[in-house]
Amino acid sequence: MSHVRSIAVRAPAKVNLQLGVGGRRDDGYHELASIFLAVSLCDRITLTAADELRVTVGGPGAVGVPADGSNIAARAVELLAKKCGLHPGVRVHIDKHIPVQGGMAGGSADAAGALVGCDALWKLGLGRPELMALAAELGSDVPFSLQGGAAFGSGRGERLTVLPVGATTHWVFATAGFGLSTPAVFAEQERRRRSAGRPWTARGIPSPRMSRKLVDALAAGDTGALADALHNDLEPVATSMRPDLTATLRTGTDAGALAGILCGSGATVGFLVSDGHRARTVAEELLSSGTCASAHIACGPVPGPEPEEIITTGEN
Ligand code: C5P
Repeated sequence: MSHVRSIAVRAPAKVNLQLGVGGRRDDGYHELASIFLAVSLCDRITLTAADELRVTVGGPGAVGVPADGSNIAARAVELLAKKCGLHPGVRVHIDKHIPVQGGMAGGSADAAGALVGCDALWKLGLGRPELMALAAELGSDVPFSLQGGAAFGSGRGERLTVLPVGATTHWVFATAGFGLSTPAVFAEQERRRRSAGRPWTARGIPSPRMSRKLVDALAAGDTGALADALHNDLEPVATSMRPDLTATLRTGTDAGALAGILCGSGATVGFLVSDGHRARTVAEELLSSGTCASAHIACGPVPGPEPEEIITTGEN
């Protein structure tokens, strides 16, 4: 009987504790001040050597995820293979748990997991610094998805500085029954700025700055101060596009969350809670209120994707 070698990788989602959005640059991206936290809501990516590149998607969040070469995990495999002069013969299976179009970098997590997983499958030994450059080519959030932990991201979000974290934080993530497209939310923010006669280009708006209050609260493990400092510039934009998100935010805070915040460009809402017990109460209230499609309990920070080798017996 033959042995089949696979690599499995758990790839965490992120929440932005701060998302400051500056003006649009000439390349179409916006200058950001982003404080990322990797959380324990994860996809699992399994990579197995095969004749050609093939993607399958399963799990509770699989609906709407492309199972072909357009999937960002497949693009990550192709990019790494090209860089190393290899044939991208890999079967990629994504067990999807991170909400799609949820602002939690689910696609970026899968891309980061695929990079780490192929590095291990092909025994390339590239390590994080080399994978980081490929990650930035794949998308603005992929470098952080590769790094994990907590970090400040500037530029379009890809230039990272590691941040210290004093204590584990507990979260509930309420998914919406719909997604929000990141380009659409950025475009709506620009439309609002222009119609209010405000500057909207990167030349017209100073680059947004890292929130010192938030960084200090994170380092001190002061959850109350952290709750006060959470801020996302895209929240008013997303709630104007989908006013039902306001009801979700209110339900979570009424149920005892310390604060609620839109995840990235939405449509998931994150709630910071004092502990795991409170997380369960808030998740139950959110579910029974009907203001969300599902509620996930998680904590952070967690490390970035780590490969795990699996040997099975049977046909490849
Ligand atoms: O980099 P990524 O492909 O993930 O970005 C998706 C889209 O999000 C971009 O095409 C752009 O519309 C928007 N975006 C942006 N500014 C950023 C990051 C993303 O406008 N800093």
